[in-house]
Amino acid sequence: MKKLFVAVMGCCMACCLYAQPDMKSLIEDNLRFAEKQYAYMASLLPKDSMPKTFSPKTQKLVSSDIQWWCSGFYAGSLWYIYEYTGNQNIRQEAERALQIIEPNRHYTGNHDLGFMMYCSYGNAYRITNNPAYKPILLDAAAALTTRYRPSIKAIQSWDSGKSFKCPVIVDNMMNLELLEWASLNGGGATFSNIAITHANTTLANHFRPDYSAYHVLDYNLATGQVSRKTTAQGAADSSAWARGQGWALYGYTMMYRFTKDERYLNLARNLAGFILNNPNLPQDKVPYWDFDAPGIPDALRDASAASLFASALLELSTFVNGAEKKQFVSSAETMLRTLSSGAYRAEAGTNGGFLLMHSVGALPYNSEVDVPLTYADYYFLEALLRYKKWYLD
Ligand code: GLY
Repeated sequence: MKKLFVAVMGCCMACCLYAQPDMKSLIEDNLRFAEKQYAYMASLLPKDSMPKTFSPKTQKLVSSDIQWWCSGFYAGSLWYIYEYTGNQNIRQEAERALQIIEPNRHYTGNHDLGFMMYCSYGNAYRITNNPAYKPILLDAAAALTTRYRPSIKAIQSWDSGKSFKCPVIVDNMMNLELLEWASLNGGGATFSNIAITHANTTLANHFRPDYSAYHVLDYNLATGQVSRKTTAQGAADSSAWARGQGWALYGYTMMYRFTKDERYLNLARNLAGFILNNPNLPQDKVPYWDFDAPGIPDALRDASAASLFASALLELSTFVNGAEKKQFVSSAETMLRTLSSGAYRAEAGTNGGFLLMHSVGALPYNSEVDVPLTYADYYFLEALLRYKKWYLD
């Protein structure tokens, strides 16, 4: 009986494996799907606005103004789709989106300049080499540095308000890529010095002994000390908000790429270990919205965190070897396969044109809960193209 069971299981597993597309086909299928979905999204978008999400209630695309922190992801996704497909209509739409967000080059209202301008203009410059994009990126980097606070050796994320005096959130690691790029592209060493100083301060203060990240640290500008370690979007101050872990993983991997500072690489490896060896990471590797969410295993999943993990793990895999490399690549592959399945990927012509369903923006505020989000799509596309570049081409 046992032998028969094993034989049948073996056959089923072989059939399942056989039924899965290879990664080349999976990437081709997703990018061709994206080409059509984003053309559909473009047709729904109100003039001069950027996509934000899709409302399950009204069944309509929800858009935002250009100062929303996500305003660069639409153009960024379009550039990734163009890079793969060469579709000129997609490129034209990407260029149109860039023009709309250009005034953000001087925006100083928060720390999100990297998300807004590097994911959009950074990709545009990388792909086209159009010199007109360069001063825009350099202006955006300069705008970001206006938020650097020497007394705390970090960039202030949000303005002070009722809840925080000088908040620095782990997400801020992502904006450092714009600064590193600026230093390498004529902006001078100050940009990189600020990025490195911020990364070192975050490394010293933002992580727990188990290598999970706090979300928000509130600093005292007078003393330079951390006054509170807390959360805004996580389940609790002491919890591991899933996307926050992804921002940290991606951020330190990216900073290692620029600096080759082994401390950043070691932290990134440990952050990956926290995520991948976590007993609360489901087998399909799309995390709950918080690793400590109440109600696991019935808590909501966050596709955006899975996209981000996949993209970050693929870059990190290029810096390590052996079993660790294998684990990072195969985990990213599982994430991409799960996200590509009907459980997460929308049907064509639905979902407001977004590729993925089931992300969580800010559950404690009941904002963007179990909906599509621009950055879930952006990092999904990025991860697919990274897999192609590093493991197929
Ligand atoms: N604050 C950016 C995010 O929601 O991940």
